[in-house]
Amino acid sequence: MQQFDNKTALVTGAGSGIGAVVAKALARAGARVVLVDVAASGQATADGINAEGGKALFQQCDIQDSASVAAAVGAAVAHFGGIDIAVNNAAIDPEVAPVAEWDEAVMERILAINVKGMFLCLKHEIAQMLEQGGGAIVNLASAAGVVGVANKPAYTASKHAVVGLTKASALQYAPRGLRINAVCPGAVDTPMLAENLPPGVDKSVIGANHPIGRLATSAEVAEAILWLCSDSASYVVGHALTVDGGLTIQ
Ligand SMILES: NC(=O)c1ccc[n+]([C@@H]2O[C@H](COP(=O)([O-])OP(=O)(O)OC[C@H]3O[C@@H](n4cnc5c(N)ncnc54)[C@H](O)[C@@H]3O)[C@@H](O)[C@H]2O)c1
Repeated sequence: MQQFDNKTALVTGAGSGIGAVVAKALARAGARVVLVDVAASGQATADGINAEGGKALFQQCDIQDSASVAAAVGAAVAHFGGIDIAVNNAAIDPEVAPVAEWDEAVMERILAINVKGMFLCLKHEIAQMLEQGGGAIVNLASAAGVVGVANKPAYTASKHAVVGLTKASALQYAPRGLRINAVCPGAVDTPMLAENLPPGVDKSVIGANHPIGRLATSAEVAEAILWLCSDSASYVVGHALTVDGGLTIQ
């Protein structure tokens, strides 16, 4: 098991799904954790961590807004003295439709959160980590950042952009002590998946499309994220790690 004693981790989208599981896993491994989410649900996760003897702070933040992201990073510095690890996990996947029928406003909303929001998180986290002399960042991309997904044009474009942002920033900052990587999960059993199922389709059908024959758990994705954040991955830079039960090798 990875250990993160005396490290502070910031996790976006920590109020639900993968982000909540990652925040709890980092806390169990010794990290102080700043849970960031636009939804108030991150407070309950932070309270749960603190009740178990961990150190957690919830910071409500909309990652589309630069001042809001700066305030979250500032809160991490004020409460815990800095940021050693960041997991940029917040995103949306609200609609399923072919390109020709896609709503323009939904496209703009997905890009504003999944791409501009990711960029703003990287911008403020990297500035802080450079002051501290290093750090590790993991961005949540998706199998949709590796292959195309019909009916999800905006989400697919946004997750390819996350892989591009990861590589560009990893290249830029590796010489200055930052390791920046991405994970690309297949379908994970979370609220996002449940909310986005096509009408009449059970989630087990989505799992059966993966060579491994089932959905991932958030804990399985968290294992890969924690490894990339840890010193065990000290020579891994700019990698987009698939955690997809074989989905993208078909
Ligand atoms: N669930 C899957 O099948 C799957 C597969 C591949 C990749 N992913 C990626 O994993 C990440 C987490 O997904 P999940 O399934 O746990 O989703 P989820 O919907 O359960 O959780 C996402 C969290 O992000 C928060 N969020 C949304 N917009 C935000 C904003 N503007 N500012 C701050 N927080 C915001 C939400 O409030 C929510 O708590 C996402 O990046 C997603 O694209 C998920």
